[in-house]
Amino acid sequence: MRLTSLLSLAALTSISIAKTPGCGEDIPSKYPKAGSSESLSLPNTDREYRLYIPTSYDKNTPTPVYFSFHGAGRDMVEEESLSQFSNPEFNPDGIAIYPNSKNGYWLSSPYANTSRPNDLDFTNDLLTHMEETLCIDTTRVYSAGKSNGGGFTSVIACNATVGSRFAAFAAVSGAWYDTADMKGVGSCAPAKRDEGYPFLEFHGTVDTTAPIDGDGDAKLPVIDVLQAWAAQNGCADNAQPTSNVTVFDDPLVKHASWDCNGLKGIVQHYRESDNGHCWPSTVGNDDFTRNAAQCPLGSLEQDEHNKYHHEYWYKYCHWHSSHKY
Ligand SMILES: *[C@@H]1O[C@H](CO)[C@@H](O)[C@H](O)[C@H]1NC(C)=O
Ligand SMILES: *[C@@H]1O[C@H](CO)[C@@H](O)[C@H](O)[C@H]1NC(C)=O
Ligand SMILES: *[C@@H]1O[C@H](CO)[C@@H](O)[C@H](O)[C@H]1NC(C)=O
Repeated sequence: MRLTSLLSLAALTSISIAKTPGCGEDIPSKYPKAGSSESLSLPNTDREYRLYIPTSYDKNTPTPVYFSFHGAGRDMVEEESLSQFSNPEFNPDGIAIYPNSKNGYWLSSPYANTSRPNDLDFTNDLLTHMEETLCIDTTRVYSAGKSNGGGFTSVIACNATVGSRFAAFAAVSGAWYDTADMKGVGSCAPAKRDEGYPFLEFHGTVDTTAPIDGDGDAKLPVIDVLQAWAAQNGCADNAQPTSNVTVFDDPLVKHASWDCNGLKGIVQHYRESDNGHCWPSTVGNDDFTRNAAQCPLGSLEQDEHNKYHHEYWYKYCHWHSSHKY
């Protein structure tokens, strides 16, 4: 009896060592060299993406992957510069993937092209292609994005097939829409899993592009999205955060966190006073260049204030991966 359970434990353990078919193979010649990035096409499709391979990449070591989806009207090149996921200072050890939308919009935006294969099919196929060609840790695949790209991370999480391949989800200034009646999307129906769906959102209180309280029409209030993910993770409907603390005084930044069904901090939110539709950063980024007055958390000089942004995101991902997978 005892031996049987030991054996089955060993079997489980070996399953959890996540190696993909790309493990042991050299980096394909059309891919960027370790430490650089390149724009590529997904074979047999009309879809493009940018790929970054970290300097530390080793073909025999399963490596985490960070997807980063651009905002409406932007593209994969701008998203690489905005999110800085190809910068070893913020991302020392992960592969970064910047998918390109078809027409500037991701599924969930009313302007997205919904014809199949749609953005969910593309994301699913792109991840499969990455697993076939690189050595990927399938338990540490993450999805992040800005604005419409942030909203799309939620669409991914809501799809049982695609969402279950990602460990955690994050959005900066997410643009959220009701997708229940949208062609190719439907209501939110994630696959059941014990680890839940870690969900993190950053939002400025003076964002006029994706207003934090919604726009009364198409865009949803951010609190509705946070509470919906808390409920998906086992909290009661309309649950208040378990904690909501000040992390910066000037400008005021509040960090709210939900514990649901024993999953500590499974949903988290940073509410940034005085910040607009901007990705906060320690490096002067495109959002800051476009609209410095609305991006008090986007300047080079405010280094100490801003560092939290990237650091929390990575700590969050690593916390979840070390605890749950
Ligand atoms: C949507 O995408 C399909 C397939 O890529 C294309 O044939 C069609 O013209 C696109 N529609 C619009 C409105 O851009
Ligand atoms: C989820 O995504 C997959 C892959 O794109 C797709 O085949 C499937 O139809 C989607 N499921 C729903 C319920 O939309
Ligand atoms: C956290 O507290 C602030 C007030 O200090 C409030 O504006 C905000 O809505 C709270 N966050 C959540 C998610 O309840």
